[in-house]
Amino acid sequence: MMKDLKISQDIHWIGKIDDRAVPFHRLTLAKGTTYNSYLLKTEKPTVIDTVDIDYGREFVEHLSQLIDPEEIAYIVINHTEPDHSGGLAALAARATNATIVCTEIAVPELQEMYKLHHRNFLIVRDGDQLDIGGKTLYFRETPYLHTEETMITYCEEDKILFPCDIFSTHVAAYNIFNDEANEDITEDYIFYYTAIMHPHRRYVRAMMNVVKDLDIQMIAPSHGYILRKDVQKFIDLYGTMSHDTVQDKKVTIIYTTIKGNTRKISNLLANIMTENNIEATIFNVDKVEKAEVLASIQEADAVLIGSSTRYADMIGNLEEILKDLKEMNLEGKLAAAFGSYGWSGESIEVIQDYLNETNMTVLSTSHVIKTTGMTHVEFPVRIRFAPKGDSLKKIEHAGAFIADLLLSSL
Ligand code: FEO
Repeated sequence: MMKDLKISQDIHWIGKIDDRAVPFHRLTLAKGTTYNSYLLKTEKPTVIDTVDIDYGREFVEHLSQLIDPEEIAYIVINHTEPDHSGGLAALAARATNATIVCTEIAVPELQEMYKLHHRNFLIVRDGDQLDIGGKTLYFRETPYLHTEETMITYCEEDKILFPCDIFSTHVAAYNIFNDEANEDITEDYIFYYTAIMHPHRRYVRAMMNVVKDLDIQMIAPSHGYILRKDVQKFIDLYGTMSHDTVQDKKVTIIYTTIKGNTRKISNLLANIMTENNIEATIFNVDKVEKAEVLASIQEADAVLIGSSTRYADMIGNLEEILKDLKEMNLEGKLAAAFGSYGWSGESIEVIQDYLNETNMTVLSTSHVIKTTGMTHVEFPVRIRFAPKGDSLKKIEHAGAFIADLLLSSL
């Protein structure tokens, strides 16, 4: 019989301590981690998040010592990554009456990952509440913390926040409360933030606006320590760490265009830089002296280069400049390619090839995924015809990503 650990009245910790050196996001978690899950034993019993996929059966066995799984009314999935949703298949097989509660984006992900097409889902939207009989759950969407479908859950009566990945630590915490830890956990807390959350700090700042309106007495995250001492200190640390730490950055944007669509992309990228207090200089390279463009590139912290495509190639004078970049020392600068196109957009790929021959750090979708896990940011920025609708979002995501990289020294 496993020890029954309550974190509050009728709220049980039902997680898994993983004290291996855990391979995770290309890190090795030397101190291990925990996958925290919670059972709220109310009139409509509710499970919040599950455990890593490797421990699904063990999780359900443990849970079954506290409740008959068939009595479970709701399973809340705050985040679909399998270190938290991985126990769902085993749980759903036993909790046959449970409705799965998650964001709209999470539904197809959970259906596909765990073959749950036949199950009842309750889609919750930002600000929704759910009465679970004696307690009320309040949901706020927190996209990209850590992936797009993510939300957090707040129990109004107990004033407990269940934020899944947010406010976590990667420690195999046998003493699960931070005030019972054998050491100051601040360093582990900062390590976790830096490794997992910081690349998403634009969204951390949005989340901070959400949690500031909640009266939070305890944070019950899904990794590591439950925070019940110095709660506000730990929340405030996220505020401090997610601020911009660097100033006076410059971006040079150069382009050529046929119908003006690539110019529009250039202007949109420049606006994003300006909104983030980054100095942006734009050149239509067919209308200025090459020397002026090269001087600006030499001074810039990031260089964004775009062209329309005509007959599968770049247009205008751009290639002359790209050839010169190979001969310059541009170490330490970021670079990205973009462009509007109608058919295949070959010029954008040709620019990317040229950039890859320089010593700049060239942004690519692969680079973004490998360094941050983000799948919504794409480089090069390929826009079919005029920027509008989803393609505007593509430009916004790319521009924000560049700005965030430039403005953080972490
Ligand atoms: Fe702990 Fe994003 O998973």
